[in-house]
Amino acid sequence: MKKSKRFQVLNDRPVNKDSFIDEWPEKGFVAMNGPYDPKPSIKIQNGKIIELDGKKIEEFDFMDSFIADYAIDLQQAEKSMNYSDVELARMLVDINIDRKTIIKIFSGLTPAKIVKVLDELNVVEMMMAMQKIRARKFPSNQAHITNIKDNPIQIASDAAEGALRGFGEEETTVGVARYAPFNAIALLIGAQVGRRGVLTQCAVEEAVELELGMRGFTTYAETISVYGTESVFIDGDDTPYSKAFLASCYASRGLKMRFTSGTGSEVLMGNAEGKSMLYLETKCIMVTKGAGVQGLQNGAVSCIGVTSAVPSGIRAILAENLIASLLDLEVASSNDQTFSHSDIRRTARTMMQFLPGTDFIFSGYSGVPNYDNVFAGANFDAEDFDDYNVLQRDLKVDGGLKPVNEEDVVKVRYKAAKVMQALFKELNLSKITDEEVEAATYAHGSKDMPDRDELADFEAIEDLMNRGITGVDIVAALVKSGYDDVAQSILNMLKQRVYGDYLQTSAILDKDFNVISAINYPNDYLGPGTGYRLSEERWEEIKKIPNIIDPDNL
Ligand code: 5AD
Ligand code: CA
Repeated sequence: MKKSKRFQVLNDRPVNKDSFIDEWPEKGFVAMNGPYDPKPSIKIQNGKIIELDGKKIEEFDFMDSFIADYAIDLQQAEKSMNYSDVELARMLVDINIDRKTIIKIFSGLTPAKIVKVLDELNVVEMMMAMQKIRARKFPSNQAHITNIKDNPIQIASDAAEGALRGFGEEETTVGVARYAPFNAIALLIGAQVGRRGVLTQCAVEEAVELELGMRGFTTYAETISVYGTESVFIDGDDTPYSKAFLASCYASRGLKMRFTSGTGSEVLMGNAEGKSMLYLETKCIMVTKGAGVQGLQNGAVSCIGVTSAVPSGIRAILAENLIASLLDLEVASSNDQTFSHSDIRRTARTMMQFLPGTDFIFSGYSGVPNYDNVFAGANFDAEDFDDYNVLQRDLKVDGGLKPVNEEDVVKVRYKAAKVMQALFKELNLSKITDEEVEAATYAHGSKDMPDRDELADFEAIEDLMNRGITGVDIVAALVKSGYDDVAQSILNMLKQRVYGDYLQTSAILDKDFNVISAINYPNDYLGPGTGYRLSEERWEEIKKIPNIIDPDNL
């Protein structure tokens, strides 16, 4: 066949490097409204759910039991289930029906019913609902701060820059597992240097992650994964009960935490039991609710390759974020892992959460270039900062970030690196040279950093862990080395554990360590003139992009 030049050009477009697959419901390749999804039903007898979405209590697996026992309000259930799907869907977009009313009704719905309601909505309606239902009044944003060398000085400098740019939470992980304590400490230090009150976490194997938290090297945790089928859960040697137990370990030490789930995980792990991705994800969200956890990172997350490949997949991702909000959870709404070669497509995907605002629009905007992102890249990275700032300005939307000037960035990057150098010296850890401080100050990524003596680092890490060093020792060492201000910030972060206020839903801290959560700043959106509006001050901040013509100089 003679080839069309038009089609040749189209074939070479980035979007055609992406993977797409037809629906295949038997294997779970269907975003929502799958042909084998159960019909909604509930039967309650003597204060117990004896039938859930067509299954009798005798047939319940542990997902059904956990949800039936802990995640559905029995007082509300029959009343809620009596509404038609479309009636409930209309309430979500009705500006005269407030968040509280909707949360109450949704507390009595079964998983299958929730999925049916969401299927009545198009993405604009879902965004309208998200704007109203998101827990915290103000949106925020989370950064990934990692690098492929696990260089802790670079982590501290990147964390400082990210904090200055406006991220409310910053997350790291490791290339090499043994680096976890250094990465966690570097992130903690850098974040407080960039902007006081920023929360930090280190996503690693669960026991290590918990220990880092208990020692005070992190100030929240997030990657406590839950799954939508019993078989996949068991594959990971877990159950909803073991995850609930882990959640209570964090709570017992006053540490903020959320679970992680997302459409596509059951398909990827080979056991979707023929159900749609959104139906299974709704079960994860309800398990989270039932465990008493305040929030959830969801939106396919690391499984977006699967969800984005099927029709209506990106819509299902917005739907799962919205369901988390409807169950009164904080939502950190993904936009993290890279999924598309197309700049148009990746931007469109992010608009779903950027426009309405979620508690954390990205649960991992890459604060480093994607080549350094150890979480397999993020949908937006450090090279997109100016694009993102322009989007905020074009649309007058608060996406949680702000333009910054080079001088300020260099200043906080330098200070973070200097503090790390002093801290390592005071704690008798491995050496940080002046050359490394200089490189981290001006680096874009790890290609600009000298290599470290890894063996010396590992020995120092082992020693630090054996000595039982905690956050309090870091505070003391910083005071001794003359960084009273950073010491005070870290002490203030540790104090949050005792106050407990930041365990409330959707908590972040401002630069004076005041907790901003869904308790003291609830989302009160009820149409135009209500809810969160940009303040004059914030708008001025957003407008100040670099590369701008000043009319006075024309
Ligand atoms: N379901 C459950 N957990 C997930 N994670 C990422 N995506 C998902 C998902 N769809 C968690 C995993 C991973 C970390 C980065 O986040 O624990 O290791
Ligand atoms: Ca994250």
